[in-house]
Amino acid sequence: MRESNESAFRTTRLEEADGPGTNPTANRRMGEIIAARFSRRGFLQGAMATAAITATVSPLAMMAANEAHAQGQGSAFDFPEVKAGVDADHHVADGYDADILLRWGDALFPDSPEFDPDRQTPEAQARQFGYNNDFVGFHPLDGADDRGLLCVNHEYTNEHLMFPGIVTITDNEIVVADADQTRVDIEMAAHGGTVVEIRKDGNGKWKVVRDGALNRRITSNTEMMLTGPAAGHARLQTVADTTGRKVFGTINNCAGGITPWGTYVMAEENIHGYFMGELPADHPEAQNYERLGIPESTYAWGRFHDRFDVSKEPNEPNRFGWIVEVDVMDPNSVPKKRTAMGRFKHEGAESVVAEDGRVVFYLGDDERFDYVYKFVTAKAFDPDNRAANMDLLDEGTLYVARFDEDGTMEWLPLTHGTGPLTAENGFESQADVLIETRRAADLLEATPMDRPEDIQPNPDTGRAYVMLTNNSRRTEADAANPRVENAFGHIIEIIEDAGNFTATNGRWEIVVQCGDPSVADVGATFSTETTDDGWFACPDNAAVDSEGRLWVSTDGNSMKSTGRTDGLWALDTEGAARGTSKLFYRVPVGAEMCGPCPTADLTTFFVAVQHPADGGEDWEGHGRPSYYEDLSTRWPDFDDAMPVRPSVVAITRQGGGRIGA
Ligand code: FEO
Ligand code: CA
Ligand code: CA
Ligand code: CA
Repeated sequence: MRESNESAFRTTRLEEADGPGTNPTANRRMGEIIAARFSRRGFLQGAMATAAITATVSPLAMMAANEAHAQGQGSAFDFPEVKAGVDADHHVADGYDADILLRWGDALFPDSPEFDPDRQTPEAQARQFGYNNDFVGFHPLDGADDRGLLCVNHEYTNEHLMFPGIVTITDNEIVVADADQTRVDIEMAAHGGTVVEIRKDGNGKWKVVRDGALNRRITSNTEMMLTGPAAGHARLQTVADTTGRKVFGTINNCAGGITPWGTYVMAEENIHGYFMGELPADHPEAQNYERLGIPESTYAWGRFHDRFDVSKEPNEPNRFGWIVEVDVMDPNSVPKKRTAMGRFKHEGAESVVAEDGRVVFYLGDDERFDYVYKFVTAKAFDPDNRAANMDLLDEGTLYVARFDEDGTMEWLPLTHGTGPLTAENGFESQADVLIETRRAADLLEATPMDRPEDIQPNPDTGRAYVMLTNNSRRTEADAANPRVENAFGHIIEIIEDAGNFTATNGRWEIVVQCGDPSVADVGATFSTETTDDGWFACPDNAAVDSEGRLWVSTDGNSMKSTGRTDGLWALDTEGAARGTSKLFYRVPVGAEMCGPCPTADLTTFFVAVQHPADGGEDWEGHGRPSYYEDLSTRWPDFDDAMPVRPSVVAITRQGGGRIGA
């Protein structure tokens, strides 16, 4: 997050947001210390190098890999691996094309102005593709594989990369000038989401349909409704909205999901940075906001819009931090913030239909020492009646996970009146439990995790994969978070009882501890079949494809000085090859990899390249701060008149065919 002061905002990465009440600069130093400790070159030159491999790969993983070899059971993935590294461009496996489909500023409607980085306006931005694409979902139209709606989140804005003439360099650090209202309003229009029709042309290449009847931009100003148990509650009422049901905009939409009934769900994640001002003394929300780090004043929006200033609208932050559902088949529909699914720093909302027809959503709360959740709808999904499913998300049970040392786990219901969730503890109703989900989960003694990101269920196996990205602040290991100073993250597999996604008990296993397996102190546990290009760090988003294979995208490799950018890795989870990882696609310098979205027919993989050129100090090709006038990469246009542009990329196999098959 960025620190603010009277005259300037210093930029750092929003994704590296600290926990509530902590100092962002201290964290950055911790990252550097860890990077230095785990410097690959340093270790390999040392005496430890020869012993490294046997010391770090778990005996089980080695046995599994050897067994795979003996039985001839290889990886489920077949593609030539990309070489890991860092440069200004993106790279995909040989035999595949990675085509730019949508760039920040691209026109989405017949009347959209063409992108002009020197003359941006809020009105133009609201008709163009937004900034920092994160989640990508594909909703086929008329059951066709070659025509559908692409649903894309625009998580946040990097002003130093977006706007000309606002950066000065002081002590080798980027200082961004104060925002005026026009800049703030462009930022607000660049947030939110895009729904846009795309089609394959005669050459099998995806094209944007600019006059698609369902095309839509959702921004931080779009009118929305609060629905479910907390809607209308006094704690959700504001000066501007005395009903507690009508809210404008959605912010920091990280990952998300496409529901079985074909709606688009957007997860509101790091909401704290958008609020400024001071709560009135002794305000009843003080403890609630402190648990979320509100206000953090990263953005200047509150200077021009009262709802982002807690001194003027003290209840407004309670209207953010929800899961937002959008009916993509009606471009005029009012998006709904579904309060039944809890309020926290929602990373994503991937879902699966359980045996009895109820729908289960897996939800991560991305903060150090926060929790893993799931939501089970009260009613069953009706595959024959779309309309009957449209309010399924207003009723159900929210659970939080406790991971026990013996490899079992329990899903604890966040239901008012059960256990400590009573009036004595400040929960007068289910609305209070949902508004303060984190505090309720604290009281249930859920397991504090190493930053839960995307959680991806595998419908065929009754299992779900939890991306735990890192937690450099962990000082005490536990079974489910087994490394202190966990700089590189790990992936947990949840095995629901009897493969039933609605189960309240299950087992869990660690699929892989991430990082460089050749460095003993890292403690990584990839299989020995994993090559030097194949290991990764900081898992963030994930996808399970229609063959049940897991793909993992990362956020933070470059921050941890791993000598590689982020990318998309294929990770075996089944049979003897379990724990084997291969690099399929990598992003340009400074970017993170988001939104991995394979189409059902597996002929296309959509990926989102977020915040390219945000960084580059550590890369020899740049070696200094990167900002609008001095970018570490001008991907994807490589045109001096164009800034770097976050973009969605469509990956297809040359000559057609299934990916990785
Ligand atoms: Fe927006 Fe948790 O990554
Ligand atoms: Ca991310
Ligand atoms: Ca996902
Ligand atoms: Ca992340």
